[in-house]
Amino acid sequence: MVERMIIDCDPGHDDALAIILAAGNPNIDLMAITTVAGNQTIEKVTRNALSVCAIAGITDVPVAQGAGVPLVRPQIVAPDIHGESGLDGPVLPEPQIELDPRRAVDLIIDLVMENEPGTINLVPTGPLTNVALAMKVEPRIVERVKRVILMGGSYTRGNSTPSAEFNILADPEAAQAVFAGAWPVTMVGLDQTHQATADADIVARIAAIDSPLSEFVVEILTFFGTTYKDVQGFDAPPVHDLCCVAKLVNPAVFATRDAFVGVELTGRWTTGMTVTDFDNLLDQEHNTQVATTLDKQLLWDMTINAISVLSKGSAA
Ligand code: BDR
Ligand code: CA
Repeated sequence: MVERMIIDCDPGHDDALAIILAAGNPNIDLMAITTVAGNQTIEKVTRNALSVCAIAGITDVPVAQGAGVPLVRPQIVAPDIHGESGLDGPVLPEPQIELDPRRAVDLIIDLVMENEPGTINLVPTGPLTNVALAMKVEPRIVERVKRVILMGGSYTRGNSTPSAEFNILADPEAAQAVFAGAWPVTMVGLDQTHQATADADIVARIAAIDSPLSEFVVEILTFFGTTYKDVQGFDAPPVHDLCCVAKLVNPAVFATRDAFVGVELTGRWTTGMTVTDFDNLLDQEHNTQVATTLDKQLLWDMTINAISVLSKGSAA
């Protein structure tokens, strides 16, 4: 079965891989790429999205720029992990396509309202600002979206603070609105994505594809590996955002458990924490499927296959 999806992203090394998996997987119909400020400013991440499209040969997917600042709080960005451009490492290819003239929020709303209810999946891999704004502007999208599968949060630990993951901390009010929405939400958090590492054998398999795209991916992973080693002590970089794209078309990649997830908005030390209640301790209705185990082999097999597929038509 082919799943239609919109990726709302802030590329970002792992967002770039997520776009590549979405474009190269035969069971995904990538309807749009929308950008949101997160890993870097909106201008930088939008330019990066266009560069990824150029190297991957993605020419027929609309790309729209979205929110430049969070709903309420001051902006945070992540140059320590993603560099000054937001996608440091490779030489970034010149964009080959024009941006869609619509704002990201309008493109999301248009696609969800124009297509049959229950056919469009939203896959956010950055802060949730655009998605929360789209819900406000057109509340009917909530009942029409098939599923929201987001990378963000965790039930064990944070990465930006001890308890908060970057995408949620960057716009906690937006995240809270998305979790509280009456649509099916899947949270793919750090608990699992920290295991989705691009180990040396994976990088070697990608390099063996031997195309301009595979070379680009290796350069991305090499830079990402360096910052993850320096900043967080990882032996190989965790490629978070890939995970929710894989989950969309292959549920076997992650097992999930139902839980209530609420975002901490007022904690002194815990703002941005995704408080996850599997056991009904808070007496709240479950609102989220939470990823709890990862089939790493399957994740990387799917990703490497997508890079091979796109390499057959990618830019020289
Ligand atoms: C998330 O934050 C960003 O740095 C990554 O792109 C990913 O979406 C991981 O915390
Ligand atoms: Ca991201």
